[in-house]
Amino acid sequence: MSPVTARAHTNIALVKYWGKRDPGLNLPAVGSLSLTLDRFFTTTSVAELAGDEDLLLLDGAEASPAERARVSRFLDLVRARAGGGPRLQITSENTVPTAAGLASSASAFAALALAASRALGLRLEGRELSKLARQGSGSAARSLFGGLVLLHRGERDDGEDCFAEPLSSPLDVRLVVARCGAGRKKLGSTEAMERTARTSPFYAPWVSTHPADLEEGRAAAAAGELARLGEVMERSTLKMHATGFGAAPPFWYLAPATLAVMERVQALRHDGLPCWFTMDAGPHVKVLCAAADAAEVTARVGEVAGVVGVDVAGPGPGAFVLEGE
Ligand code: PMV
Repeated sequence: MSPVTARAHTNIALVKYWGKRDPGLNLPAVGSLSLTLDRFFTTTSVAELAGDEDLLLLDGAEASPAERARVSRFLDLVRARAGGGPRLQITSENTVPTAAGLASSASAFAALALAASRALGLRLEGRELSKLARQGSGSAARSLFGGLVLLHRGERDDGEDCFAEPLSSPLDVRLVVARCGAGRKKLGSTEAMERTARTSPFYAPWVSTHPADLEEGRAAAAAGELARLGEVMERSTLKMHATGFGAAPPFWYLAPATLAVMERVQALRHDGLPCWFTMDAGPHVKVLCAAADAAEVTARVGEVAGVVGVDVAGPGPGAFVLEGE
């Protein structure tokens, strides 16, 4: 087996995924619509290892037992599909702050799905690869593709109709990422989704009202209607975060600076600068705007107290192999 190195870019959901209809197969309760970003990515190498355990090096350091176990379980799926295979050494470098709500698991499992499947002799493309990556992390299914991407919820119990595909759009957008504090997120998305589904009275309406939001987002993106897309994006993130307020025990990812950026975004819009916010399982705010407005939005969002850094991301490419095969 020769080593393979692959790279995948992270993505941010404009219409969110939150909740699982089958935790075993990691099938989402709702579909999602995302933008793959040029700015943040994960590069992962896979090489054969003697011994009886997989090894995981994350940004130069040995990963925690929990992280290694999650990756090993995923590698077991790839080995099963390839009809067997050796233990593997995984070396992964992130330009995404790990587990801080900038969706590092999306780029991580997309890069790993591509590198590990190729290293073990599988030639999975597009949809098939996205179904495999989804089993590592729901959002990873979307990072196999560039630009705007739709992840179908699917109806089947075996998950065969739950795959991602690119969506073409005339929009030229940017996501201005305002970092609101640092550090790892307090509650992983898997546990948070499970708690919400089990205890929050807001979970059922989240699921039942989601298809209309996804269709609205898809149609707005396809038609190039930025304001319509921005509005549904804000609605989707606020509904998602509201499920956590209703959970027992409750949880939230929003920090004081997150709320300050949300208010700034609303004020900018009121003053005639079109932009819209979204937040994931962390405090950072990603602000959607037209490419032509990105510099102004960056400057105005960067002034908000508590914002520790601002990056501008544009549409990025799908996952690709850098070395080996
Ligand atoms: O792919 P996961 O399990 O990390 O979940 C992602 C959940 C959100 O980032 C909050 C929403 C999304 O669609 O990416």
